[in-house]
Amino acid sequence: MARFEGKVALVTGATRGIGRAVAARLHAEGAQVVGLGRDEAAGTALVREFPGAHFVAANVANPDEVRGAVDETVRRFGGVDLVVANAGITRDALALRMSPDDWNAVLDVNLSGTFHTIHSCLRTLLRRPGAAVVAIASVIGETGNVGQANYAASKAGIVALCRSVAKEVAGRGVRVNVVAPGFVETEMTASLSAGARAAYLERIPLGRPARPEEIADVVCFLLSPEASYITGQVIGVNGGLFP
Ligand code: NAI
Repeated sequence: MARFEGKVALVTGATRGIGRAVAARLHAEGAQVVGLGRDEAAGTALVREFPGAHFVAANVANPDEVRGAVDETVRRFGGVDLVVANAGITRDALALRMSPDDWNAVLDVNLSGTFHTIHSCLRTLLRRPGAAVVAIASVIGETGNVGQANYAASKAGIVALCRSVAKEVAGRGVRVNVVAPGFVETEMTASLSAGARAAYLERIPLGRPARPEEIADVVCFLLSPEASYITGQVIGVNGGLFP
């Protein structure tokens, strides 16, 4: 039997990059995948590619939209068993020049978006045996990075948020973990200059970026019964980049 047969899996930011790789893997292993994202056209393409998958349009920074999307998912599929809070953005600038808008936009999507996603799903998760959450942070949340004070703070916040919720719901059998990738080949990193890219690669002991599928493998392990005794943890998937 497929690992996620009979499970309803909600993935935010599922239309490309890491979220898409997670959605693909969950779909291949039998889950009813529900992708949540802002891009309706990309959502339609996702559903076409993964027959039976469903897409709900929502901005994770908007708690009402997330609540509406989760309610629709519960009405349609009976509940949610697995949640992957993956949606994220960057708005890089040196702290000296970072505008309040740049700060707020990144915190709103990355940190508050992760909270709204988990918060809206908690009630249904608590009723589903074997329920699990994985949020996507970043190595930058631990190391900090020049030009990414907003992003680093948002990702460190995700770790603290998830460790807290993990403690709150462990007694009810719900597991909450974090995957912290290093440098992954996606559209998010495609805009890096050749110089910045080379500087990153030089610091990665394995000498190459990750493929999104290599992150998805670890996310799906943490969602699966094979990780039944793992909660409140942060798993680095970074080619040895840190520590
Ligand atoms: P990406 O930019 O390729 O994809 C991000 C996805 O999130 C897209 O589908 C986008 O539409 C969605 N999204 C963005 N803002 C949204 C919002 N407000 N509401 C709903 N959906 C929204 O990025 P990538 O690389 O796949 O990143 C996924 C996650 O992994 C992010 O949280 C990112 O911070 C994290 N990460 C990425 C790394 C990398 O090297 N690519 C490294 C470490 C962490």
